[in-house]
Amino acid sequence: MEQKDNFNALYDITKTINLILDPNELLEKVLEIAMTHLSAERGFVMLSDQNAELGYTVVAFKNFNSKKAGDEFAGSSSVIKTVLDTGEPVLTFDAMSDERFESSVSIMAQKILSIICIPLRTGERITGAVYLDSSKSRKAFTDDALKFLTIFGNLAAIAIENAQQYSSLKAENVRLKNEVDVTHLFSNIIGASEKWKKALEIAHRVLDVDVAILLTGESGTGKELVARAIHDNGTRKGKPFVAVNASALPENLMESELFGYMKGSFTGANSDRKGLIEVASGGTLFLDEIGDLPLNLQAKILRLLQEKEYRRVGDTKNKVADIRIIAATNKDLETAVKEGRFRDDLFFRLNVIDIHLPPLRDRRDDIPLLAKYFLKRAVENYKRSIDGIHPEAMQMLLANQWKGNVREFQNVIERAVVLCRGSQLTKEDFVFNAGDSSALQKNSMTLADFERQIIEATLQEMEGNRTRTAERLGVSLRWLQYRLKEWGSE
Ligand SMILES: Nc1ncnc2c1ncn2[C@@H]1O[C@H](COP(=O)(O)OP(=O)(O)OP(=O)(O)O)[C@@H](O)[C@H]1O
Ligand SMILES: [Mg+2]
Repeated sequence: MEQKDNFNALYDITKTINLILDPNELLEKVLEIAMTHLSAERGFVMLSDQNAELGYTVVAFKNFNSKKAGDEFAGSSSVIKTVLDTGEPVLTFDAMSDERFESSVSIMAQKILSIICIPLRTGERITGAVYLDSSKSRKAFTDDALKFLTIFGNLAAIAIENAQQYSSLKAENVRLKNEVDVTHLFSNIIGASEKWKKALEIAHRVLDVDVAILLTGESGTGKELVARAIHDNGTRKGKPFVAVNASALPENLMESELFGYMKGSFTGANSDRKGLIEVASGGTLFLDEIGDLPLNLQAKILRLLQEKEYRRVGDTKNKVADIRIIAATNKDLETAVKEGRFRDDLFFRLNVIDIHLPPLRDRRDDIPLLAKYFLKRAVENYKRSIDGIHPEAMQMLLANQWKGNVREFQNVIERAVVLCRGSQLTKEDFVFNAGDSSALQKNSMTLADFERQIIEATLQEMEGNRTRTAERLGVSLRWLQYRLKEWGSE
């Protein structure tokens, strides 16, 4: 398979498995994906288990004779033992004459020709294995298939670990007892639109699970705000929250900044120094602009995530880190991976929990709420007496493109509050950034965009009343309904 196809397949797969929080359902899905992808006839997944006789327990299986399944799993134990002991995958085209598995009754009895068995691993720990076999084709399992399954095994292991952590938390009923209204969860985060609530729901789910998080979204969408909220509401609250911008420093300085250094390790290193990882100990390290991190440091961050270990520059010993990592980027990491600028293993590791923050133009319903919030704050800050926003001005806010997202929105409101001489913000009080001017003046828009914005803004003004909206716009109700249906707003 092509490298790119492999990446795309893995990417789709992680999108699926990362969303499954029920461990049993997840294990079934992992098996199903592996079997389908490699056209295997039978398969099972096992997890290491110290208390079990064989050292592992089978947790999901497919196409085994359910009465004799136990014997058949045991029959493959030589293969599995090799994988669990060495941590290396096994691939064989002709299992019956492979001397490694000579003693295996099952292989003989079932006339199994091809076997593939790969470890599930997180870092250096082997947590289980996936076994697949086929009695049809000797060529069913290729080296490419093995490569694919090896990466898949790493991803699946992380997903399984997460699901297990999540379900044990759920069992303890920690914080997850009832459905919580996420709109009130983080008091300083504003937004009630569906898209925004969806993003916050994921953030809420992972508060107490110490898993790495990737926050994606355009500039100004609130990535840092959400990162802090996760820290402040999770088990690490009260401990340091340390933010580092990965694009701020050249590679060598960034390395000593993050990991610290030993006296004499380079000119100017006159004493030992702690890195930010140590400063953040017990708390959260926020790695902003992670897409700009040099490849060499990406490898070190991956190691930190997997083994919780790192090394100061010039040190000969490893240190153990006690931090949660939240990474953020406004760049397209998938493209960076395809172009070789970002390690795929680090990407997949971070992407387990991907919280995507939508741009403001995709959650316009939140604009009135945000306007009210920022207005109140600005009025207090600048000691003004302004009690609202004129509907016409609001319509303009609703129609704007907001390329700078909430950050730009906040600035525009603040500036208007400062400029305003009356008791209400009016159109004249608003100054939009050059290049980010009101959508109504934008010539890069298509007529259809323009039409849609006017309609949406008017609907908002009419509080969703379609008859009045149609009247105001001078169109028939049927025409309006037809348009809304076309956009899926029905
Ligand atoms: N939902 C929100 N509610 C209230 N304030 C918000 C919200 N989203 C963003 N903000 C405010 O907008 C500003 C920008 O947010 P933040 O710094 O978190 O963006 P970012 O995604 O990290 O941007 P960048 O990619 O440019 O670093 C901050 O002042 C933040 O408080
Ligand atoms: Mg930021």
